[in-house]
Amino acid sequence: MNEKKLWWKDGIIYQIYPRSFQDTNADGIGDLTGIIQHLDYLQELGIDGIWLSPITPSPDVDFGYDVSDYHTIDPKFGNLQDFDRLLSEAHKRDIHIIMDLVLNHTSDQHRWFQESRMSRGNPYHDWYLWRDPAPGGGAPNNWKSIFGGPGWEFDEKLGQYYFHMFNKHQPDLNWRNPDVRATMLDIFRYWLDKGVDGFRLDVFNAWYKDADLRDNPRLPGIHLRPFDSYKHIYDVSQPEMIPALQDIRKILDAYPNRYVVGETFLADSAQARIYIGEDRLHAGFDYGYANTPFSAKAFGKAIQFWDSLHGENAWPNYFLNNHDTPRSSSRYAGPNDDAKLKLLAAMHLTVRGTPYLYYGEEIGMRDVSLSRGQIQDPVGKRYWPFNKGRDGCRSPMQWDAHPFAGFSTAEPWLPVHPNYKVRNIANQAVTAASLLNFYKSLIALRRQHPALYAGNLSLIDTGEDALLVYKRFTSEETMLVVLNFSKSIQSYTLPVAEFNHWDLIFTGNDPITSHMTDSNLDLPPYGVAILLSQAA
Ligand code: NOJ
Ligand code: CA
Repeated sequence: MNEKKLWWKDGIIYQIYPRSFQDTNADGIGDLTGIIQHLDYLQELGIDGIWLSPITPSPDVDFGYDVSDYHTIDPKFGNLQDFDRLLSEAHKRDIHIIMDLVLNHTSDQHRWFQESRMSRGNPYHDWYLWRDPAPGGGAPNNWKSIFGGPGWEFDEKLGQYYFHMFNKHQPDLNWRNPDVRATMLDIFRYWLDKGVDGFRLDVFNAWYKDADLRDNPRLPGIHLRPFDSYKHIYDVSQPEMIPALQDIRKILDAYPNRYVVGETFLADSAQARIYIGEDRLHAGFDYGYANTPFSAKAFGKAIQFWDSLHGENAWPNYFLNNHDTPRSSSRYAGPNDDAKLKLLAAMHLTVRGTPYLYYGEEIGMRDVSLSRGQIQDPVGKRYWPFNKGRDGCRSPMQWDAHPFAGFSTAEPWLPVHPNYKVRNIANQAVTAASLLNFYKSLIALRRQHPALYAGNLSLIDTGEDALLVYKRFTSEETMLVVLNFSKSIQSYTLPVAEFNHWDLIFTGNDPITSHMTDSNLDLPPYGVAILLSQAA
């Protein structure tokens, strides 16, 4: 990536779920050495940053999202030397590393929590949200856990409850305690000093709770999860969050080219946008786009909305997949049909914003289906069969047709998808029309064209339900992206080109592709066309 580009803005970020990427010591769990082994692959794919789901020590109640030490690497993934090696090997390849910081809660095994539950007088007691029972007995207020059941857990010895937004083994920190706040901010400095390029903040807008822990108002209706029966106005999105983000941003801005992206929790897009800006987050995640049904109109609307919320002063980002949600391949496409996935990839890599990819998305890995006994995720364990949890999208990376898909030589922690003998990186690398080759060529195209990685976006209303059409443009070039969301052939009359004429420069890698005759474009089912018009 050349000097003028800004990696997190003009580039592409690839999320790795470290447990499932590559195991190198035959314990069935991915590790840092495994990630290092595949940096050449990631460089060739054309990505600019890696977001690593948590790699700090964890008892794995929530697989890394219950942290028991913020300052080292979980031995199952390696050690600090391995991490330094990962950083320097990634940097050699112009790949940046984003750490996942889980600062809303710790593991109940964290030393701070262990201390805090020793006695009410312990200096760490106030580091967590301990409260006496309500006057008539029972939980201090009506807050619930999003993972199921009450949000309060009673400790017999102390005679008090502590609050946990997630699992009871993930007690929430008390960010109103100045020592907690200062310690949290030091965690940023610690990893920045090690050379980390950015952070993804886990459920950051839940850090602060209402100072008086007021009851959330009740919503009408009956819900499977008690959590959904309340309007969450006191347990998330409190005003103190903005100054906290401002302090974090000041810390980051003292280092060159750093980045912080936040996972906004229980907030609508407009609320998520509030946290993004020059003096706060560089970017924030929003589920609006990922939750869109497969339709040109619906995606057009989602993109228009998220894009205009950002306006000129902020840069959107987009994801279709992450470790918490069923894979887009399983949501949108049949088991062997990648045409829709190519179409979605074409959209994902050409809208204005930073595209996030999730490991295996580039080969269309599908969710694995598990029996009850194979479930690992606490959410699936609790809500089976109504909600089978998030394991489906966390299965081992499918590298090749070797046993366990080349992920490991031992039985992996989650089963490999049975399609791995056909659907794997090695196979798709040598198959001209594969999804992987589609991604590679489109990523390469995106890297060459400022209109695609940095240009503005304007959607074109074609009056045709099947088509999603938009322009991306800078003062020097305009690109037109035409996407056919239907299973039938579509024709499209091209608008007048900004400069001179349109060149059809990308049509994908299927034997039958879009073609242009004069000012008319014909697209096959789920066909893609990218056109370029540039100053002479
Ligand atoms: C959001 C993370 O993405 C999810 O995986 C985790 O379970 C919760 N936060 C709790 O940390
Ligand atoms: Ca391992």
